[in-house]
Amino acid sequence: KKIAVFASGSGSNFQAIAVAVQSGSLNAEISLLVCDKPGAFAVDRAEMLGIPALVISPKSYPSKEAYEAEILQKLTNLDVDLIVLAGYMRLIGPTLLKAYEGEIVNIHPSLLPAFPGKDAIGQALAAGVEKTGVTIHYVDEGMDTGPIIASASVKVEAGETRESLQKKIQRIEHSMYPEVLEELLNGEEEAVQWEKSVH
Ligand code: GRF
Repeated sequence: KKIAVFASGSGSNFQAIAVAVQSGSLNAEISLLVCDKPGAFAVDRAEMLGIPALVISPKSYPSKEAYEAEILQKLTNLDVDLIVLAGYMRLIGPTLLKAYEGEIVNIHPSLLPAFPGKDAIGQALAAGVEKTGVTIHYVDEGMDTGPIIASASVKVEAGETRESLQKKIQRIEHSMYPEVLEELLNGEEEAVQWEKSVH
């Protein structure tokens, strides 16, 4: 199966997925990195990994529809089966949602439905919760609202800082996302049951 990874920032999850593909633990091909932020480190990673990148700025298009139509054309040409959002800081619009219905997934650094949207880690710390985590879910038109595929919880320790919590969460993400993708793409069951607790 062919996947396209969408990222806006560092791209550490993108890299973790690419490494899993290279090592053979994830049986898939990353056909394309789509990045909406010229200069994002994810683009450098794509170059280092030898993965083609489409760097595309929404500002260069008259509408979201036109922007997504351009991406869609690339994805169609490459026969991409699944869109994998990994730190893509933008809502997916109707153009891509319709073309890839039920075939777009996202990873979010909280236990959804808690703390959707930006800065989920800061939100969790500010709320003083004892545990937070990571959620992988299907994407719909809402902000981090689609059906949940897998989740992993992380304990918030006393004295936890944003940096320490982010580190723990990212470590989980980097092993969890490739594993869940392998299940989704090549697993026997339609629905993935993946739940994990980390302390
Ligand atoms: C991850 O924490 C992910 O959960 C969130 O954005 C972050 C992306 O990090 N959606 P990176 O770009 O993969 O390093």
